[in-house]
Amino acid sequence: MSPVPPPKTYRVKSFGCQMNVYDGERMAELLAARGIAPAADGEEADLVVLNTCHIRERASEKVYSDIGRLVKTGDAAGKRPLIAVAGCVAQAEGDEIMARAPAVSMVVGPQAYHRLPEMLDRAVAGERASDTDMPPIAKFDALPARRRSGPSAFLTVQEGCDKFCTYCVVPYTRGAEISRPFADLIAEARLLVDGGAREITLLGQNVNAWRGADARGNDCGLDGVIREIARIPELQRIRYTTSHPNDFTDDLIRCHGEVEKLMPFLHVPVQSGSDRVLKAMNRSHSCDSYLRLLDRVRAVRQDIALSGDFIVGFPGETDADFEQTLRVVDAVGYAQAFSFKYSPRPGTPAASMGDHVSQEQMEHRLQRLQAALNRDQLAFNQASVGRTCSVLIERRGKKPGQWLGKSPWLQSVWFEGDHAIGDIVEVELLEAGPNSIEGRVREPAFA
Ligand code: 5AD
Ligand code: SF4
Repeated sequence: MSPVPPPKTYRVKSFGCQMNVYDGERMAELLAARGIAPAADGEEADLVVLNTCHIRERASEKVYSDIGRLVKTGDAAGKRPLIAVAGCVAQAEGDEIMARAPAVSMVVGPQAYHRLPEMLDRAVAGERASDTDMPPIAKFDALPARRRSGPSAFLTVQEGCDKFCTYCVVPYTRGAEISRPFADLIAEARLLVDGGAREITLLGQNVNAWRGADARGNDCGLDGVIREIARIPELQRIRYTTSHPNDFTDDLIRCHGEVEKLMPFLHVPVQSGSDRVLKAMNRSHSCDSYLRLLDRVRAVRQDIALSGDFIVGFPGETDADFEQTLRVVDAVGYAQAFSFKYSPRPGTPAASMGDHVSQEQMEHRLQRLQAALNRDQLAFNQASVGRTCSVLIERRGKKPGQWLGKSPWLQSVWFEGDHAIGDIVEVELLEAGPNSIEGRVREPAFA
């Protein structure tokens, strides 16, 4: 590659999970610290970072079509952007990307993106650079301090996974479980709140596996982090995701009944309702232990909204197994959930299992599952009608004077009035659809 002028503008495109959104923000902050500005809407950037997802086949194929599109529009405009591929596809297929996509000048894994600025210097000098090292923690220490934040911010507290579910690439792309130090988390939470955050979602692939030493040096779990950040006065709401059913402690469950700022919403994937399939998935929990866990949480927080993840068509899944998944859905009554067709991932144990479920069967099962989940989501929203609750305004709606925000139960609520992004307003929920609820602002009685 030949040398190019240093980029003046950047765009980071993040795909996949919320942790990628967080990483994308931190990469943007690194680039901004180098004096590179975000490209305006509709403007071609000099540097594009594709922050990729490898969790399912379709997600990881996107990277090659995106690179192709960037090259084509760049060539048409007479100026190709510098392209960096980051995220989990970079980690898993770094060498392949370098070989297959000559237009890419930087490949950087999720644990190495703090080195992006050095890689950029090399790219500007005309060299190609790849870094998929996995040094624990180093990344966070090397990142610039947080400054600005939207009303709802993400904060990665834990990364990686030691669970090795047989279908999942995360233990390979994100590495072993690490917990960031308590003091660093509290400091970052304060900076996010100073920068405008009113809600913080604590993130981790197994967020409830976080462990560390609190300010007094005592061993504690995620409950300790939640209780400490709840003490930040301007912070109004706390959430956490994603949890593993086996990593809930009594202390964490108790938080749901005791910490008012902890929102009544919990995402706990189950994947399947069949113990046979759960065993083949190496989930190390049963359907019954999962349901008992939800009962324990409900016992301390009756109005908790539940969410989950499901995979249909795991190798060997029979009709009878799938019926058990539908039974779990009926038993739980999810407020929302994500469901996927099984996608074999190279290098995972399940990818070499026999007894594949046909695409038609998978499609059929996914449709039935999604119909049940949609039914329950609508029912949950309809059951909220008549309630008055707080809504954190996240953005403007399509029409002037319209606002969109989230209820405590993570429902999208829209309403009209004279407000601003970041306001928390009391809203009466009037009419529910499957994906959003119309509301009306309740004026305080004493106003
Ligand atoms: N195929 C389909 N879905 C998957 N997930 C993870 N790996 C796969 C795969 N190979 C789903 C799980 C997980 C969510 C993030 O993605 O449901 O909880
Ligand atoms: Fe993947 Fe299982 Fe770890 Fe979740 S718990 S990240 S599904 S291996």
